[in-house]
Amino acid sequence: MSNIGSYDKRAKNFDWNIAEKELDYKDGDLINIGWYCSDRICEMGKADKMALIWEGHAGKAKKYTYNDIRLTSNTIGDFLRGLGIKAEDRVCLFMDKIPELYLGFLGILKIGAIAQPLFSAFGDESLFVRLDNAQTRAIITQKKHVSKIRKIIDKMPYLEFIIVVDHDPSKPLQEREIAFNLEETPNVENIEIHPTKAESPSVLHYTSGTTGQPKGVKHVHYSLISQYLTTKWVLDLREDDVYWCTADPGWVTGTSYGIIGPFSLGVTQCVLDAGFSADNWYRFIEQYRVTVWYSAPTAIRSLMKAGDDVVKKYDLSSLRHLASVGEPLNSEAVIWSEKVFGKPFYDTYWQTETGSIMISNFPGMKVKPGSMGLAFPGIDSCVVDVNTYEPIKETGKVGLIAFRPGWPAMMRTYWRNEEVYNKKFQNGWYIPGDRSSIDNEGYFWFVGRDDDVINTGGHLVSPFEVESALLEHEAVAESAVVSKPDFVNMEVVKAFVNLKPGFEPSKELDLKIMNFVRKKLSPLAMPQEIEFVDSLPKTRSGKIMRRILHAKEWGEEIGDTSTLEDD
Ligand code: WT7
Repeated sequence: MSNIGSYDKRAKNFDWNIAEKELDYKDGDLINIGWYCSDRICEMGKADKMALIWEGHAGKAKKYTYNDIRLTSNTIGDFLRGLGIKAEDRVCLFMDKIPELYLGFLGILKIGAIAQPLFSAFGDESLFVRLDNAQTRAIITQKKHVSKIRKIIDKMPYLEFIIVVDHDPSKPLQEREIAFNLEETPNVENIEIHPTKAESPSVLHYTSGTTGQPKGVKHVHYSLISQYLTTKWVLDLREDDVYWCTADPGWVTGTSYGIIGPFSLGVTQCVLDAGFSADNWYRFIEQYRVTVWYSAPTAIRSLMKAGDDVVKKYDLSSLRHLASVGEPLNSEAVIWSEKVFGKPFYDTYWQTETGSIMISNFPGMKVKPGSMGLAFPGIDSCVVDVNTYEPIKETGKVGLIAFRPGWPAMMRTYWRNEEVYNKKFQNGWYIPGDRSSIDNEGYFWFVGRDDDVINTGGHLVSPFEVESALLEHEAVAESAVVSKPDFVNMEVVKAFVNLKPGFEPSKELDLKIMNFVRKKLSPLAMPQEIEFVDSLPKTRSGKIMRRILHAKEWGEEIGDTSTLEDD
């Protein structure tokens, strides 16, 4: 029997106070995610239970019990407080998936500061726009990433502390840099947990849109209520599970379901901080006897590509439940997983903004390969007409996904961008910006995004950010960035570039431009292909029409071109 039991029954009698009761929370009480994920589990008698099993490159491993994560997060929180970090100050986590990332996250929350995780592969430009928007006061990082911060430090007077967790004492520290070695710092037995309440800010995640700079999605401590219950009912985590979430906490899956969900349930989880290889992933599952696995379609397609024979080399019989998120999970991947693992991947749908799973295939229910599943109990959802935002009554007709606001983990605003936040609501609905249809049993079938944002391997990339980076290259006069199809990543970035006079297309220039973007932004945002063109399609008012280039890449109908410049 799964944790959710009967979906129909749960959906009929749903109230978020189911989670509040299990967490001993009442309206108006203090609520602190850092405390719930460590101290509370210890108080429940599970101090010695394994919380985090971490494995890095070359098989290096570390293990932390719930008491260990309680103490180490205290220690980090206490250190930050000692520097003068106050409640609601933004503290950025800019690290690979090392233990300090997980423990630091909890430590920041314990002192009431706001955790701002950023993907460690970000280049200096991606980093700068996000720190600048958040006016971040401290950043916790590794020595390998410090050079990226040094490059932009002069533009960031608000960034007072650069905390390096693995500083080499034989090397000099520069301006504002501080060494902090967790293992060499005595544990802090007790710290005063900041008296955060439901609406106190907790996490700030950055997400990319079509236009403008990335947006800081503000979450609050009350998000725990949704994250706890969705972890329990969708990922089906239980007392004796060994859970593996493959996502990086630089992105929301890695915090909502890679930290908060599993730790608030007191479950053991494993983390693998190493590059992708099918052999290593299967070996990891076998070695730690992983039972519940939450991953992403790109990873699943990469495993498919590695073939069925490699699966047979490992004992994967511990696996009990598999789930996926981030991009469309094609039916082939679901069918393949049934063939090789003996169970399907259960698709789940949500966003950085929603904070927790909104639509999913629940354990025990009929999986329709290719469908995202049903709305989580208590979530009032539908698809609405693209123009009127009125709910579409006809089965199977495509519209925009819409959710009635009010679930605990919903974002509270975009940081310093209330205007764009307000635009996400229409006719009383929150509009995530995705198109879908709903079948006669209430299952959602994803169709596509309703904007130009590129979803490459489950990571959103803004064409605007890539175009802006391209324009900074000396050879680029104009550019347009769209996605193109790719087997593994579903979509990858493609750039059309018009060169300045005096520059000629060449393989060398091509690579130079690609690398320029990779270093400035990230490997994800780097165009996988650059096509040099003499001109770009534009509207009469001079706006580049990405739509036409996109349609060409995907072999689709171009549609209405009546506003084109040259027609
Ligand atoms: C966007 C959100 C929160 C998970 C990590 C991504 C797309 C998400 C699915 C799915 C098809 C999906 C949507 C969504 N997406 N899950 N199961 N099927 N598309 O969070 O970076 O905020 O991206 O990812 O387009 O809006 P994110």
